Amino acid sequence: METQNILSKSPEQFAQIMQSEGVDKGYVITNENGISNSGGVFAGLAAEIATLKDYRKHEGVFIKYDDETKCLFMAFVHSTIRGQAQGGTRLKYRDYEQMTGAIEDGLRLSKGMTDKNSISGLWWGGGKAIICPINAEEFAKIDAHNRVDGKKVFTNLALRTTLFKNYGKYIASLNGAYIAAEDMNTTPEDMQTILSVCRYVTCLPAVVGGSSNPSRWTAEGVFNALKATIKHFENKDDLSGKTVAIQGVGSVGGPLAEFVLKSGGSLVIFDYDPAACQNIKGYDNGAYSDKVTIVNNVADIYTAECDVFAPCAIGGILTPETIASLKCKYVVGAANNQLKDFDQDWKLLRDRGITYLPDFFINRLGIINCANEQYGRLENDLKKEVQKIYDDPKNGTLSLLATCKETNKTPQEIAIQWATEWGQIPHPIWSHRGIELIKSFI
Ligand SMILES: NC(=O)c1ccc[n+]([C@@H]2O[C@H](COP(=O)([O-])OP(=O)(O)OC[C@H]3O[C@@H](n4cnc5c(N)ncnc54)[C@H](O)[C@@H]3O)[C@@H](O)[C@H]2O)c1
Repeated sequence: METQNILSKSPEQFAQIMQSEGVDKGYVITNENGISNSGGVFAGLAAEIATLKDYRKHEGVFIKYDDETKCLFMAFVHSTIRGQAQGGTRLKYRDYEQMTGAIEDGLRLSKGMTDKNSISGLWWGGGKAIICPINAEEFAKIDAHNRVDGKKVFTNLALRTTLFKNYGKYIASLNGAYIAAEDMNTTPEDMQTILSVCRYVTCLPAVVGGSSNPSRWTAEGVFNALKATIKHFENKDDLSGKTVAIQGVGSVGGPLAEFVLKSGGSLVIFDYDPAACQNIKGYDNGAYSDKVTIVNNVADIYTAECDVFAPCAIGGILTPETIASLKCKYVVGAANNQLKDFDQDWKLLRDRGITYLPDFFINRLGIINCANEQYGRLENDLKKEVQKIYDDPKNGTLSLLATCKETNKTPQEIAIQWATEWGQIPHPIWSHRGIELIKSFI
């Protein structure tokens, strides 16, 4: 079997290569001694990963093929300096038709978690995981669902339970190098299935003492960042007279839309799911319907006349093309990894005079919601964190924007500077453990 150009293989071909080599798992690990791997197809993978812009010396990439559910499990550990690598587990096939899609996304997302956890002051490193069915048909089987009151009710429950148990056993075998959380297409109930076989999981349902779905908190945090932006630049305390264009009105974009309406703002919205848009039109028995404009295709949300563009659907949507067409003054949204090119695209926004608030800085309430779940839960603490996004002297949006003004730098530059600096502060008790855990696999 061809073991060159590994990243151009489909997940199915990658799984076949592993099977032909008689292995079901492997790793690529980086530490002070350089990059190492578990051999076979992972030797080729390591060589190719090392050439990627998003590699950024990730401490570990761990992959297992689960033949029972026809899925690849991929755990990405960017950094364990501040503690065990924590970040969501997403279940996805679209955009991952070649291994490069999943690997690049995983690397970018786990680096983003290092930044977000540092900015949030959490004693966690950065990680992310992907469950990638080997083809679209397998994804459809696992994701089969009906909608009840807008919520997905999965119909292939036995398969889903098997999947999250098998995945949980794999995560348990990583000895805590990575801690799972819910993310795209995964739920607190899936996390509970993981918990039945693995202790390294967060975002559990409230019924087992967990923090449950964080989306509403995330939305409120993003809204406070948006309010702080308007306060800083326009000295206004609400959104009256302002128009916010929201891409994706799902679990975060939906409540964000409601906050904007309640604060006196107007909306332009787009979502591939027409029912999600109609929900916003119908909010509060249609009391705000004349303030909501629905556009019918995705291109129109990038060109909408607005004050604020709020990406709340998928990452990678701020590209040279979309940035050139934006008609907003500010970009403030929840989606992770909005910049297609993390190192370049913020400059294009700056050059167009658009203020971009980095996603990892403002969508942090999701991760804060589940942080320290095992130490108990006080709703009041979360309310304080929501307020901190607005005006905390150390890591609030007003402070960020004031620092930008003083230094003549963009929020992206200052937020990365803070995240990089704080990301190097080792865990106060377990500073050695993360990297030792990862070395123990070699
Ligand atoms: N849920 C959280 O607490 C949280 C925390 C941090 C970051 N995020 C990020 O915020 C984003 C949204 O998360 P969510 O939990 O609301 O997801 P969701 O799946 O509940 O909602 C996303 C919505 O976007 C729509 N959509 C998908 N592609 C689209 C596109 N190209 N254009 C317009 N609409 C599109 C979907 O139909 C869906 O209604 C994701 O990028 C997620 O990673 C979420």
